[in-house]
Amino acid sequence: MSATVETVHVALPGREYDIRIGEGLLARAGAEIGPLLRRPRVAILTDETVAALHLAAFRAGLGDIEAPALALPAGEATKCWAQFGRAVEWLIEQKVERRDIVVALGGGVIGDLAGFAAAVLRRGVRFVQVPTTLLAQVDSSVGGKTGINSPQGKNLIGAFHQPSLVLADTGVLGTLAPRDFLAGYGEVVKYGLLGDAAFFEWLEAQGPALAAGDVAARIAAVKRSCEAKARIVERDETEQGDRALLNLGHTFGHALEAATGYSDRLLHGEGVAIGCALAFELSARMGLCAQEDPSRVRAHLDAMGMKKDLADIPGDLPDADGLIALMAQDKKVQDGRLRFILARGIGEAFVTADVDPALVSSILAEALAAR
Ligand code: GLY
Repeated sequence: MSATVETVHVALPGREYDIRIGEGLLARAGAEIGPLLRRPRVAILTDETVAALHLAAFRAGLGDIEAPALALPAGEATKCWAQFGRAVEWLIEQKVERRDIVVALGGGVIGDLAGFAAAVLRRGVRFVQVPTTLLAQVDSSVGGKTGINSPQGKNLIGAFHQPSLVLADTGVLGTLAPRDFLAGYGEVVKYGLLGDAAFFEWLEAQGPALAAGDVAARIAAVKRSCEAKARIVERDETEQGDRALLNLGHTFGHALEAATGYSDRLLHGEGVAIGCALAFELSARMGLCAQEDPSRVRAHLDAMGMKKDLADIPGDLPDADGLIALMAQDKKVQDGRLRFILARGIGEAFVTADVDPALVSSILAEALAAR
């Protein structure tokens, strides 16, 4: 076990917390979580896949802390009213009190659902995120967005509820399938592209080692990503402005996810990566960034063995108008206008609604024709 544990502090007044990042944190769970507890007891929400892999190690790490657990089915379909209700009722049955702590042990689905359950249980109890995927460690476990899906769209029901602690054990990333790891890496690349050109350059050099399992590179990438997110969330917790930058690649990505039925034809992080490439393409065509920038984004995704174009998505896709219609259902629509995250260069993203729909349509039509 490496002794290195990094800490990123999220300085939200009255709701501040640490993100602890390093190898072997599950084994130290009792020492990390214990100081937050008023009695030696937590209630764990997890999924069946993560429970089989990590629940025993996590409980062992908790030591004498009592830790009943509910394992929900793995997968996005769990972010629904039925499983949410089941989780909340189970927490009530477990007699979780107002001063107790709920633990979310899992990826983004469990983190979002458990965080929302904690937000509404007894009008709000504290919770700890123990993210077990790269995507959850660098994005969804940080910043307090919690919720579930509606049949009418993703993440339409939820609350802002900050965790009291995030324990990101980079050791568990070794159990991820390579495709899931790389999908999470799509969100890592996003941080470089939106606000940190030096980080993107570092990823161009270190990305392959990081994907191959280099522990120091993984810790450094998770830390830098969490720092970026923490600074944005501190400025704009409830997404009135700057937080929308975190949606770079998501306007296109969500439309592609919807077009592929949220299936394993396209994972969320893969949609984000392709979406980032399209956002840079759009920015270049609008004369906002250098013509070379979109190629540089695609070259890095390619070097990492990631999807980078619509041509990399298997199966049929709607035409350009169909994709634009799916974009229009996005939460980022404001006053009927779709907002895009564009860039003046690598590391220089900004939010705008000032985009010609005909240009978006022609970029999508070209990308579809190249399939
Ligand atoms: N995942 C985007 C956000 O947390 O704002």
